[in-house]
Amino acid sequence: MKDPAESFHTLAEDRHSVRHFRDTPVARNLIERVLQTAIQAPSAHNRQPWRFVVLTKRADRELLAAAMGERLRADRSIDGDPENAIERDLANSWMLITGAPVVILLCMTMEDMDHYGDDRRESAEHHMGIQSVAMAGENLLLAAHAEGLGASWLCAPLFSADNVRRAFDLPPSWEPQGLILIGYPQDESRKRTRRGLNEVTQWR
Ligand SMILES: Cc1cc2nc3c(=O)[nH]c(=O)nc-3n(C[C@H](O)[C@H](O)[C@H](O)COP(=O)(O)O)c2cc1C
Repeated sequence: MKDPAESFHTLAEDRHSVRHFRDTPVARNLIERVLQTAIQAPSAHNRQPWRFVVLTKRADRELLAAAMGERLRADRSIDGDPENAIERDLANSWMLITGAPVVILLCMTMEDMDHYGDDRRESAEHHMGIQSVAMAGENLLLAAHAEGLGASWLCAPLFSADNVRRAFDLPPSWEPQGLILIGYPQDESRKRTRRGLNEVTQWR
């Protein structure tokens, strides 16, 4: 049997973003298994501020893509980007989001987090909430990979939070942070390179 530590390192090293999927549906118990591992992540004060919205119906993925697309179109028009570039971008993200059998919207709630009377500490606490959700997100990506699924984090809900909230009538405290596409990979996608450890580390 392979050394468990080595198996884990290999899993993390092999994981890469997958954005194109086969039509094959993903069984609900497999999605639940992956989410169970996601929620084992550490979180600030163990308050577990992650919230998930699992979209398996195409109509819901289209609703999400449309809500986010509306914001993207408005933002890029304000930037003065050429109309055809905006339409290309919108078509690409529509394809990605509607083409994934499962989309998990990742949200964060400050409901159970601490609150302070000053902006500095309030902001630090808000960051801790976001960091905690990101940890659940990475667990989710690794668990999906371990199960032979492909997955990728997309940031669009962060840029269109109000549109997404409205489209799905989310509880008021749920702050959209990102989404994760999940499905069986359509083809071999490549692992992106990483900077060398020496470049990103200071030993003191
Ligand atoms: C917070 C975050 C936001 C991301 N947003 C997007 C995105 O909007 N679109 C996209 O195609 N990939 C997105 N990604 C995936 C990254 O592009 C990808 O992880 C990175 O290029 C490294 O590639 P790898 O995951 O294959 O190792 C995001 C990843 C993270 C962690």
